[in-house]
Amino acid sequence: MCGIVGYVGRRRLVPVVLGGLKRLEYRGYDSAGIVYLQDGKLTKFRSEGKLQNLENIMEDALGASSHIGLGHTRWATHGAPTTENAHPHSDCTGELVVVHNGIIENYHSLRNELLEKGHKFASETDTEVLVHLIEDYLEDDLQEAVTKALARVEGSYALGVLWSGMPDTLIAARNHCPLVLGIHEEEGGFMASDIPPLLPYTDQVVFLDDKELAVLQADNYAVYSLETGEQIEKEVKTIAWNAAMAEKGGYKHFMLKEIYEQPQAIIDTVSGRINPETGSVTLPEMNLSDEDLTGIDRIFLVACGTSWHAALVAKYWIERWAGIPVEVDIASEFRYRKLLINERVLTVAISQSGETADTLAGIRLAKELGSKIVTICNVVGSTMTREAHGTVYTHAGPEIGVASTKAFTSQLAALFLFTLFLAEKRGTMDAKTRLELGKELISLATVIEKVLPVLQDEIKELIENYYDSRDFLFVGRGLNFPIALEGALKLKEISYIHAEGYASGELKHGPIALIDKDMPILGITPRDAVYQKSISNVEEIKARQGRLILIGTKGDDHLKTITDDVLYLPEVHEELNPILYTIPAQLLSYEIASRRGCDVDQPRNLAKSVTVE
Ligand code: M6R
Repeated sequence: MCGIVGYVGRRRLVPVVLGGLKRLEYRGYDSAGIVYLQDGKLTKFRSEGKLQNLENIMEDALGASSHIGLGHTRWATHGAPTTENAHPHSDCTGELVVVHNGIIENYHSLRNELLEKGHKFASETDTEVLVHLIEDYLEDDLQEAVTKALARVEGSYALGVLWSGMPDTLIAARNHCPLVLGIHEEEGGFMASDIPPLLPYTDQVVFLDDKELAVLQADNYAVYSLETGEQIEKEVKTIAWNAAMAEKGGYKHFMLKEIYEQPQAIIDTVSGRINPETGSVTLPEMNLSDEDLTGIDRIFLVACGTSWHAALVAKYWIERWAGIPVEVDIASEFRYRKLLINERVLTVAISQSGETADTLAGIRLAKELGSKIVTICNVVGSTMTREAHGTVYTHAGPEIGVASTKAFTSQLAALFLFTLFLAEKRGTMDAKTRLELGKELISLATVIEKVLPVLQDEIKELIENYYDSRDFLFVGRGLNFPIALEGALKLKEISYIHAEGYASGELKHGPIALIDKDMPILGITPRDAVYQKSISNVEEIKARQGRLILIGTKGDDHLKTITDDVLYLPEVHEELNPILYTIPAQLLSYEIASRRGCDVDQPRNLAKSVTVE
């Protein structure tokens, strides 16, 4: 979704904002713009496409001596991704500019009202009504004008505003879209849609909450309620990530770097949380009492995309080991169906970013119905973690590639911990089993670390026969059915090959009709409780000449009698297979997309953090 960067301070504006926008590229965008104020005059640059296009038209402005301005990457919602629709948008005088992330739902009526008053519009965007509305209220106090304008607005926004009449001040405001301030005594004041643009300058951040407005100056900031106008004391948080964590570090793509970071991400997520002697699990930010946890009789897992696949795996774990019925919902469906939720239901939101609009709306609804909320989240201080009663943080570090990799396996590690934690609290698992499973989880990181380079080499060779396929099927059973879904999602999002995931046992109820000598199928067939069933399913594919790739357990020679294309993985506890078997699915997608010359880190039409509905 759109990215916002704003800066006021001693540094030259353009490199700070351009660098910041580059660090937000992963959010997805199709046009970009920058505005700065110098000698009382606003100068604006906008272009379609990648930031490089913007940089090209700004060549002469790169060294401009301005110290205040705003930048924006736009992911089109209202109006095509053209230069005219790119942000910043200006008022009729050209002395006031706005950048915006979100959707103004009542923009039609506001636009008509403003047109009648004589305002001139230059774009098709919903955002442009904001700048004219602020202009309409503006006399000599920008904060007051923005507050009055936003009182008229229905919808979501993260907003940056700059007016030549107040040349040392930026205004930021938020409602249902993320916006964070970065503060540093010497460097100045920053605003951004996410943390990476702030990392080179400061680790001190202030997260804005809904209906809050910030006044930002080089050496000062203040936050106000948009509803009451009163000043609010905000907590300043320290971010543990550093700037290098958001760099490629020698890898060709962020996605590949992040695939290789998975062993560390799992270790960081698990370490210190399992007592190696007793297998007892500690989740420090859980904040729910033992009564809360023993009193629940149902769990709803709510998430989108890859995080939803993590939820599907967790359902198997929680039901088996903690004995609690689990429902799994796609957040965009959850929020619009009749929810049978009360105080005996625990709702768990799974989200890498902690900002996904549908998931956030889902937990708000569940909270209203009396449910306690826990979030499994990777971003400290994100909106979901602030609104949930408790959080289990995944410690995956910043994930920049749009395709989620290390965030997913860390979510699985955190959900497995959560399962052990629940089982301990509810007395559904003996200490010996808990200890054994806990140890298996810890040692899984080493297994993945060893297998990664070997697998990558094998897969690079293997995909020469598959990279130009038009379609792909992924099949798995039980715990590995969600991994088939995840493999298919990964492949389609970064390589644009049409791919579907199925439960192997479901093939003969329809999808088997697709199988012929041209259809590639990746089958997940570890030696587990449903091994024989999975083998029967892949034999059915073979009988119809499907082009099979199998992933199975080292030493299982039978797989080689079914197909030549077998990837072997070491044997681990079968409960943890979903984490291990994700790795080849990720690498296969990565290598195919890379071979096809796709933009792996920023696939077309996708945004990293989906902050609008
Ligand atoms: O930040 P979240 O985990 O809430 O994001 C949910 C999905 O948008 C995300 O997992 C998406 O499906 C990824 N592109 C998958 O690779």
